[in-house]
Amino acid sequence: MHTAAFRAAGLHGTYEARRVPAAELPAALAGLRQPGVLGANLSLPHKEAALPWLDELTPAARAIGAVNTVIHRQGRLTGENTDAQGLFEALLELGAGGTGDRNTGGAVAVLGAGGAARAAVYVAVTLLERDVYILNRTRARAQELAESWAAPDRPGPRALAADPGEVPWEQIRLLVNASSAGLDAPGQTPLPDFGFTRLPAGALVYDMVYKPAETRLMREARAAGRRAENGLGMLAHQARLAFRAWTGADVPVGVFLDALSSPAGREQQG
Ligand SMILES: NC(=O)c1ccc[n+]([C@@H]2O[C@H](COP(=O)([O-])OP(=O)(O)OC[C@H]3O[C@@H](n4cnc5c(N)ncnc54)[C@H](OP(=O)(O)O)[C@@H]3O)[C@@H](O)[C@H]2O)c1
Repeated sequence: MHTAAFRAAGLHGTYEARRVPAAELPAALAGLRQPGVLGANLSLPHKEAALPWLDELTPAARAIGAVNTVIHRQGRLTGENTDAQGLFEALLELGAGGTGDRNTGGAVAVLGAGGAARAAVYVAVTLLERDVYILNRTRARAQELAESWAAPDRPGPRALAADPGEVPWEQIRLLVNASSAGLDAPGQTPLPDFGFTRLPAGALVYDMVYKPAETRLMREARAAGRRAENGLGMLAHQARLAFRAWTGADVPVGVFLDALSSPAGREQQG
C-alpha cells in the first residue's frame, strides 16, 4: 500500500517489513530517530510495549493505550493510533455512525478485548458518542476494558462488559468484531448460535478481519438480511492516515484499496 502511495504522491521512499523480537524493540525504535526516516507502523505485541520509548503520544494513542504508527520529526518520536480513526472513517463511508444515526440513538457492540477492541471502544464512545457493550471470550478482560473507560472525567456514553444474553440486541445498530476469531478460519465465529434477526434491520456488522474476505460472522449476518463488511476499508484508511502523518501527502484511499486488491496485495493477505 505504501509503495503505491509513494508512487501516487510522486515521492521517493520505501516501506519495508521488519521482524523485531521484543527484546530489540527499544533499539529498533531508537533507529527511527535517524535523519531521513519518516516513521514506522507497529504490530503485535509492540503496539502497547512501545509506549515508554516514545517522546509523546497523540490524545487518541494515549486514550487507547496503543500505538500503531510512529512519526519521526527532527529526532523526536510521536506515537499515534490510526486504527481508531481508520475504523471511524471506514464506518462513516458505510453510512454507519453519521450524525443522523447519533440523533436516532442506538448502541454499539464490540467483540474482543485486545488492542483492536480498545480502538473500537474509543471510536464508539468518543467519536460516535454511543453506549458500547463489550463481549469477549474471557469476560474478565472485557470487564477490565470497560472499567478503563469508566473514569469520572469521562462523562457521557458508557462502556459495559456483557455476555450475549445481557445485550439489548434490538438497540445495536453497529456490531464490530475486533476479536481475531475467524482470522484465517472460515468456520470460526466470535458469536456462535446467534440469531442476527435480533439486530435492527438497518444494523451494520463490521468485521475487522479481512482474511477470508467473507467471514462466517459476515456470512451469517448476510443470510439474515443484515449488512456486513470486512475490515479492508479500515486497513486502507489506517494506512492512508499513517502515510499522511509521515509525508504530509493526502493520497486518496482508492490508491490503498487498489494496492490491496493487486496480486501482490492479495498475496500478502494470504
Ligand atoms: N482491519 C484492520 O485494519 C485491523 C486493524 C487492527 C486489528 N485487526 C484485526 O483485529 C483482530 C484483533 O486484533 P488485536 O490486535 O486486538 O489482537 P489481540 O490483542 O491478540 O486480541 C485478540 C482478541 O480476540 C479474542 N479471540 C481470539 N481468538 C478467539 C476465538 N477463537 N473466539 C473468540 N475470541 C477470540 C481474544 O479473546 P481472549 O481475551 O479471550 O484471548 C482477544 O479479545 C485481528 O484479527 C486483527 O487482524 C484488523
